[in-house]
Amino acid sequence: MAHEFKEISPNASAGAKVTNWFENRFPTAFDAYRVHMSEYYAPKNFNFWYVFGSLALVVLVIQIVTGIFLVMHYKPDAALAFASVEYIMRDVPWGWLIRYMHSTGASAFFIVVYLHMFRGLIYGSYRKPRELVWIFGCAIFLALMAEAFMGYLLPWGQMSYWGAQVIVNLFAAIPFVGPDLALLIRGDFVVGDATLNRFFSFHVIAVPLVLLGLVVAHLLALHDVGSNNPDGVEIKAPNAPKDAKGKPLDGVPFHPYYTVHDIFALSMFLMAFTAVVFFAPEFGGYFLEYNNFIPADPMVTPLHIAPVWYFTPFYSMLRAITSEMMYALIACVVAGALIGVVKGKLPGFLKAGVVVAALVAVVLMLSIDAKFWGVVVMGGAVIILFFLPWLDTCAVKSIRYRPTWHKYLYAVFVINFLILGYLGVQPPSPVGERVSQVGTLFYFGFFLLMPWWSSLGATKPVPDRVNFTAH
Ligand code: HEM
Repeated sequence: MAHEFKEISPNASAGAKVTNWFENRFPTAFDAYRVHMSEYYAPKNFNFWYVFGSLALVVLVIQIVTGIFLVMHYKPDAALAFASVEYIMRDVPWGWLIRYMHSTGASAFFIVVYLHMFRGLIYGSYRKPRELVWIFGCAIFLALMAEAFMGYLLPWGQMSYWGAQVIVNLFAAIPFVGPDLALLIRGDFVVGDATLNRFFSFHVIAVPLVLLGLVVAHLLALHDVGSNNPDGVEIKAPNAPKDAKGKPLDGVPFHPYYTVHDIFALSMFLMAFTAVVFFAPEFGGYFLEYNNFIPADPMVTPLHIAPVWYFTPFYSMLRAITSEMMYALIACVVAGALIGVVKGKLPGFLKAGVVVAALVAVVLMLSIDAKFWGVVVMGGAVIILFFLPWLDTCAVKSIRYRPTWHKYLYAVFVINFLILGYLGVQPPSPVGERVSQVGTLFYFGFFLLMPWWSSLGATKPVPDRVNFTAH
């Protein structure tokens, strides 16, 4: 659509004239600014939980910019990679800063994104009409995990090497295609130069492109349906209060209100971020593992191989699936099928289908190695998040108006996730194994039983307007 040419008074200021010159030649950019910033109405009751989206954007930019500078000196070659990273750390002017910003940025990304996801969970931001916003978010989370995993191989330290070896070998547990798939991923029979090259290629270009595309889709979808808020009140609904121009009374323009809010949060974030970068970049071995300061040696396996902290809850779930645990899982499948048949309001042929599916599942669970099911559980723990919009059946969105015990349940969910994370860093132990098995059952129970428990209990009345007091 052709835009109308906007005339400007000859007496206008030089600044206004320059703006007008650009607006007449690139109106789309000016429209985008209005739609997404100055005329994007966001609920006025956002709290601090709403800063993590823009912080994630900032961290994404930090990672891309520092990554570009790292690539200028890094060598994706098994014989040179480790030394090139040391060269960056010691000889390249400010190289240490760039590298520590990138490694700290990886952990910061996960901290920010976990908090961002938790906000979505407690305020029901994934519910209609924001299902796609959530699904794009889950895809971002998957891409982020792939990005971090492949980036970790690049310094070619002991942990890079053995971590990649362990994880790629997991694919070999898939029946029939597993060994060939693992070979395809590695490009060799063991993790080697070919693996390093392809991980480099994925890490610096393929996955970042996907991530950027997904982030754009995430934000466009969000701005189409409008933001949720801590009360879960829809400020743009047809019956929501609006002014004479149709602007929501419970909304404020994103710019300047939330740009200022987010800049304040950014300044807090940068204080914490720079404190880590300058004073504790290894963060006690959690952000950069000590074993990774030893060059990769295919002949020496480290005593204890653990992934970086952000993967450890999922790693714990992987380790929890022992052959003994398979019996507990089989019991869950049988119990689920029984409940479906006895209690479910399904037509007869579907009930028969449930019984057959459960039988097939049990036979497969008994015949395929537990290691494979560990991989299924680990992958399933992320995939299940995609289905959250359809698992939650509570009448209200926000935790504020749900039955009080929901809060305790969410608290237990978080504690359980943290315990799983802690156990994933520790060497395997009999007690740790048992606890992680219970934790895994709780994690999946939380989601799979959500259609049932989320509809229980009395909800509190949701107000018509958002709760807001000027400060
Ligand atoms: C690179 C990673 C990500 C970036 C840059 C990003 C960016 C953003 C931004 C800027 C917002 C609006 C501001 C806010 O509500 O905080 C937002 C909202 C949202 N994001 Fe993300 N996001 C990312 C990852 C994720 C992930 C992993 C999920 C969930 C799995 C997710 C789910 C959501 C949801 C549900 C909303 C709407 C929240 C509401 O309106 O209450 N995002 N995101």
